[in-house]
Amino acid sequence: MYPRKAENLFVKIPCCWSLLVVWFLIITTQFVKPHELPDQSIMFGINREIGVPEWDVNNLDYCYWPGILCSLNQTVERLDLSRHGLRGNVTLISQLKALKWLDLSNNLFYGSIPAAFGNLSELEFLDLSSNKFGNSIPLELGKLSNLRSLNLSNNMLTGKIPDELEGLVRLQDFQISGNHLNGLIPYWVGNLIDLRVLSAYENKLAGEIPDNLGSVSEIQLLNLHSNQLEGSIPGSIFANRKLQVLILTQNRLSGTIPESVGECKDLSSIRIGNNNLTGNIPKTVGNISSLTYFEADNNNLSGEIVMEFARCSNLTLLNLASNGFTGTIPPEFGGLTNLQELIFSGNTLFGDIPESILRCKNLNKLDLSSNRFNGTIPEEICNMARLQFLLLGENSMRGEIPHGIGKCIKLLELQLGRNYLTGTIPPEVGHLKNLQIALNVSFNHLDGPLPLELGKLDKLVSLDVSNNQLSGTIPQALQGMLSLIEVNFSNNLFTGPIPTFVPFQQSPISSFLGNKGLCGQPLSSPCDGDVSRENYPRKVSYKIVLAVIGSGLAVVVSVTVVVLVFMMRERREKLAKDAGIIEDDSNNRPLVTAGNVFIENLQQAIDFDAVVKATIKDSNKLSSGTFSVVYKATMPSGLVLLVRSLKSMDKTLIHHQSKMIRELERLSRLSHDNLMSPVGFLIYEDVVLLLHENMPNGTLAQLLHHFSRQPEYEADWPRRLSIANGVAEGLAFLHSLAVIHLDISSGNVLLDANFRPLVAEIEISKLLDPSKGTASISAVAGSFGYIPPEYAFTMQVTAPGNVYSYGVILLEILTTRLPVDEAFGEATDLVKWVHGASARGETPEQILDAKLSTVSFAWRKEMLAALKIALLCTDTTPAKRPKMKKVAEMLREIKQS
Ligand SMILES: *[C@@H]1O[C@H](CO)[C@@H](O)[C@H](O)[C@H]1NC(C)=O
Repeated sequence: MYPRKAENLFVKIPCCWSLLVVWFLIITTQFVKPHELPDQSIMFGINREIGVPEWDVNNLDYCYWPGILCSLNQTVERLDLSRHGLRGNVTLISQLKALKWLDLSNNLFYGSIPAAFGNLSELEFLDLSSNKFGNSIPLELGKLSNLRSLNLSNNMLTGKIPDELEGLVRLQDFQISGNHLNGLIPYWVGNLIDLRVLSAYENKLAGEIPDNLGSVSEIQLLNLHSNQLEGSIPGSIFANRKLQVLILTQNRLSGTIPESVGECKDLSSIRIGNNNLTGNIPKTVGNISSLTYFEADNNNLSGEIVMEFARCSNLTLLNLASNGFTGTIPPEFGGLTNLQELIFSGNTLFGDIPESILRCKNLNKLDLSSNRFNGTIPEEICNMARLQFLLLGENSMRGEIPHGIGKCIKLLELQLGRNYLTGTIPPEVGHLKNLQIALNVSFNHLDGPLPLELGKLDKLVSLDVSNNQLSGTIPQALQGMLSLIEVNFSNNLFTGPIPTFVPFQQSPISSFLGNKGLCGQPLSSPCDGDVSRENYPRKVSYKIVLAVIGSGLAVVVSVTVVVLVFMMRERREKLAKDAGIIEDDSNNRPLVTAGNVFIENLQQAIDFDAVVKATIKDSNKLSSGTFSVVYKATMPSGLVLLVRSLKSMDKTLIHHQSKMIRELERLSRLSHDNLMSPVGFLIYEDVVLLLHENMPNGTLAQLLHHFSRQPEYEADWPRRLSIANGVAEGLAFLHSLAVIHLDISSGNVLLDANFRPLVAEIEISKLLDPSKGTASISAVAGSFGYIPPEYAFTMQVTAPGNVYSYGVILLEILTTRLPVDEAFGEATDLVKWVHGASARGETPEQILDAKLSTVSFAWRKEMLAALKIALLCTDTTPAKRPKMKKVAEMLREIKQS
C-alpha cells in the first residue's frame, strides 16, 4: 500500500518532485554555504555604527573578537568595550538578546541612553559610566528584572530617578554619581533586598534620605556626598550592621548622629563633614572597632571630644574641625598609634597638648589651630618623627619655641602665629630642611635676633615673623632661602639695610614697615649716605634733559651729573663687593677657572676679562629673573653679547663642573629656531656666566609692556601670534626631549632682529634639574604670576605646569596686561581675572587688547581662538591642560587659516 501510494503520488503529480529537489537543495546549501552565526549581522552592524578598531572583520566569527564572550550556541553573552574612546549609536546592541554583561564605560558615547536596552531581558550587568550620555534615565531600564549591577555614573544625566526602576528587584550595586540628577532618592531603593552599594554622590538630589534604607537590604557602602539632602541621618542605615563606608559629606543634613552607629563593627569610614549636624558624638563610636576614618568637620557638633575614640585602635584620621567642641584633648588619645591626622582646628578646646599624644608615632598632621589651647609646646614634640604639619596658630600658647623643634625633620609647615610665645626663635629651625609651605611665628612676643640658620631653609616659600619684638639686622644669610616668595618682617624692632635679595625687593613695602630702622629697597628710606639704586639712572637722565632745555643752568647741571655718576659708581662697586663678586680692579684680575666658546668664528672676538668686567657694572644689567641676571657685554672687538650670570644659588653646580661643562656643550648643539642656546660659558670663583648672541629687540615683556616706546606695528596682532606660536614650538621641542623649563615668563622670551622669539634659560632647566638631584634648588620654581597653582602643593615642576606658565604668556599677548597687577582687584592675577570675565558679565572685548581686536574682523576671530587656547592652558586642573605639542598645533592652525 505505502510504496504504491507514494509512487502514485510522485508519478501523478510531477511538481512534488521538484518540491523535493528544492527542499533537498535548501538542506544541502545550509551545509555547503558558510553557516550564518546567530548574532553575526548584528555584530557587523554594531561595528559599522561605532567602529571598534580591534575587531577583525575579516574573521567572520565574532566570538573571537576582543571583548566578546559567546555561549556554546554562539550567541553573544558578554560585550566589553570599555576604554576605547568610542562614539556613535549603540542602540543595535539591544538586539543581542542573550546578552548578560554589557560594559560600555569610559568612552565618548553621547545622546540618550537607548530605551531599547530595556529589552535585554537576560542582562545582569550594565556599566555605561564615564561617557557623555545625557537626558533622563529611560524608564524602560526598569524592565531589566535580572539586573544586579547598574552603573550610570559620570555622565550628564538629568531629571529624576524614574520610579519605573522599582522593577530592578535584584539590584545589588546601584551607581549614579556624577550626573545632574535631581528630585528625591526614591523610597523603593530602600526596599531592594539585595542592595549592597548605593552611590549617588555629586548630583542635585534633595529631600531626605529614605528612612527604610538599610532596614531590609544589607547595605555596605552608602555614598551620597555633594547633594542637597536634608533631614537627619536615618538610624535604619546602621540597622543591619553591615555598613562599611558612609559618606554624606557636603549636604544639608541636620539632627544628631544616631547612637546606633556603634552597632556597625565593620564601619571603617564615616565622612559626614560640611552639614548642619548638631549634638554630641555618641560614646558608642568606641564600639566601632574597624573605624579608620572619622571626618565630621564643619558642622555644629558640640560637647567634649569623647575619649571613646581612643578605643578605635585603627583610627588613622580624626577630623572634627570647625565645630563647637570644648574641653581638653583626652590623654587616652596617646594610645592611637595608627593615627596620622588629628585635626581639631576651629573649636573652643583648651588646656595643654597632652604629653601622651607624643606617643602617636605615626602622626603626620597635628592641627589644633584656632582654639584656646593655653599650655606650652612640649620640648619633645618631635618624638612624633613623622610630623609634616604642625599647626598651632591662633591659640593662647605660652612659653618658648622648644629647641627640640629642630628634630621634626619631615616638617613641611610650621604655624605658630597669634599665640603668646616668648623667647627667641631657636637656631634649630635651620635643621628643618624640608620646611616648604610656611614658617609662621607672627603675632607673638618673640625677641632677640633672627637666627642666621634660617638661611638654610632653601625650600621655604613663605616666612612670616611679623608683629614680635625681634631686633638686630635682617641677616645677609637669609639669601640662602632660595625658594622664598612671601616674607613679612613688619612690626618688629629690626634695624639696618634690607639685604639685596630678589624676594625681599619684590615684596610689598608693608612687609618691612613698623620697624625701628630698616632702610633700603623696597622701602623708600635710603640707607645712610646711600641713594636708591633703581631710581638713580632715571634721575640722571631727567637732569640731562633739564640741562639741554635749560641752557643757562647747563654748567651747574653737568657738574651735578658728574658728581652723581661718581657716587653711583662707588655704590655699585660696594654692592658688587657685598654680593661676593670680586672687585673690578685692574691689578686684581678675576681668576677664570674654566671657559669655552663653542662657535669657532666667535672665538677671536670674545674676551673673557671683558665679559667678567661687564657683569660687575650695574648699568649693563638688562633684566633679572628668578635664577639669573642678564647683562650686556660689549667686547673690545665691538661684538655685543648677552651674558647670563647664574645666581650662585647652587654651589653643588661648581662641584660637578665637568658634568656641567659637558651639559653646556651638549646644549650648544641643541638647535631649535625658538630656543636660545649658549655660544659659550665661563666660570670664575663660584660664578657661572653663560654667553649668548645679542638679541636686539629685547624681551617679549619689554615689547608688550613698554608699548609706548615702540612703533605700533611692532606689536601688532600677526606679529604677536607668530611670537606666541614660536614660543609654543620651542617649548614643545623642549618637552619632546623630556626637559621641563623652570622659569617660563615673558621676560625669558627674547626677540631677535626679525622678532623671532627664543625661549631663554633652558640651560637652567638642564643644569639644575631637581628631579635628577643635581641641584638643591626648590621645585617651586618660576616667576610670580606664572607659577601654576598646583606647585604650591605638589612641589613638583611638571610639563603641565609649563603649559600653565605658557598660558599666562599667551594671555599677556592677548590682553597686553601684566601677569600680576593691582588693577585686577579681587581677582589678584591675570589668569583669575580672565577666567572670571564671564561671571562678571564681561565680553571678550573687555578682556582682549581692544587696540588690536577692533582692527579687523579677522584679527578678532583669531584672537578669540587664541584666547580659547590660553584658557585651556591655564585650567586649574593640570590634567585638563593640553600638551605643549597640541598647543603649538592649534596655534599653527590659527596662523594658517
Ligand atoms: C601667619 O599666621 C597668622 C595667624 O594665624 C595669620 O594671621 C597670618 O596671615 C599668617 N601669615 C601668612 C603669611 O600666612
